[in-house]
Amino acid sequence: MSSRIPGFRHLDVGERRRAVAEQAGTDLATLDGLGADAFGTEQAAAMIENAIGVFPVPVGVATNVVVDGREVLVPMATEEASVVAAASNGARMTRALGGFTTSATAPVMQVQIQLVDVPDPRAARLRLLEHADELVALADEQDPRLVQVGGGVRGLQVRLVDGAHQTYVVLHLAVDVRDAMGANAVNTMAEALAGRVAQIGGGRVVLRILTNLADQRLVRARAVLRAEDVGGEQVVEDMLHGYELARVDPYRAATHNKGIMNGISAVVLATGNDTRAVEAGAHAYAAVAHPPYGSLSTYERDGDGHLVATLEVPMPVGLVGGATRVHPSARAALSVLGVSSAAELGAIITAVGLAQNIAAVRALAADGIQRGHMSLHAKNIAASAGATGDEVAAVVDRLVAEGAFRQDRAEEILADLRAGSTG
Ligand code: MEV
Repeated sequence: MSSRIPGFRHLDVGERRRAVAEQAGTDLATLDGLGADAFGTEQAAAMIENAIGVFPVPVGVATNVVVDGREVLVPMATEEASVVAAASNGARMTRALGGFTTSATAPVMQVQIQLVDVPDPRAARLRLLEHADELVALADEQDPRLVQVGGGVRGLQVRLVDGAHQTYVVLHLAVDVRDAMGANAVNTMAEALAGRVAQIGGGRVVLRILTNLADQRLVRARAVLRAEDVGGEQVVEDMLHGYELARVDPYRAATHNKGIMNGISAVVLATGNDTRAVEAGAHAYAAVAHPPYGSLSTYERDGDGHLVATLEVPMPVGLVGGATRVHPSARAALSVLGVSSAAELGAIITAVGLAQNIAAVRALAADGIQRGHMSLHAKNIAASAGATGDEVAAVVDRLVAEGAFRQDRAEEILADLRAGSTG
């Protein structure tokens, strides 16, 4: 299996599917789950309330990705024209020195229980900690199946949080949720514990909900790049300057991290996971781990002068529950990824986030973003101007050649083309 498929982008959609099925060792019929008619209004209505339709988003495949020595083709769902090409490009630059290496914490999600009107918050904290074993046992009882597969509560913590008018006692349960995203599991536990927590702590319980700042469920990815693969020493130097601005300046960090999330959210969405949970976790972590708000990735030179890029992010994604199992497109995407655990999925998602970031930082340092970005965006412009079928490529070629990425120009080119072909 290789994730490097030369000429992939020149194939038509059917040929691409065959190439992907062959490389990923998956049944071609499974990829029908990515067809435009695979998910209809009936399924939509079964999934949410008040459904009136579906909103198709393109799914592309990022090539060139190697994660922990395994070649992997990565389905990405995105509306942004340049994302899949950039991820593939970033991944290609890492291949010479082995692609991406990952590591992770255990899949531990945390849930909060808020106590208000506690007369003695400091003593309440200790009373709750004295009852930790009882509370943990009660939480584990809520999900025997999770405990059976090796998950369950891993820790109990009580924090005192100063609100404007009183000090809240906030109990945290840290729960190993194994292959689930875990929101339902931990929220159920928190609701079951609330009564007993109020009895022990005093006061009353208000909120019982997971925290999306999943800072005990982290995945890390690392890649080493040769200067010649990113465009030379000067590009490396300028990538380091670009990174440094993202490290110290929240205005740049927000955009830098948005680029990382271009990759991460596209795979999260393609696999039927909760994009908002992962986005919220990433940005909250960028604030808590890199105050006041900084880059989620790092760039350095190693002892050999190579560029080393790293990324560490909360990764609350699952393979069980949610849309992952029921949505035919998510099932197809997971089959292409060939993953059998949430940990493996999280590793690939994080690697793609880093690939995306490498491509963006490199493009910004080397050519500026518009050259590549607008060439790809030209497809959208051509389509908005009304080009269909072969016309799209013809209009795109002209727009790129002229460096004119405007719809009015696309319309003129299209009119010329049509006049030429009918005249
Ligand atoms: C565009 O969607 C993402 C970038 O702005 C990311 C970045 O600036 O690093 C290109």
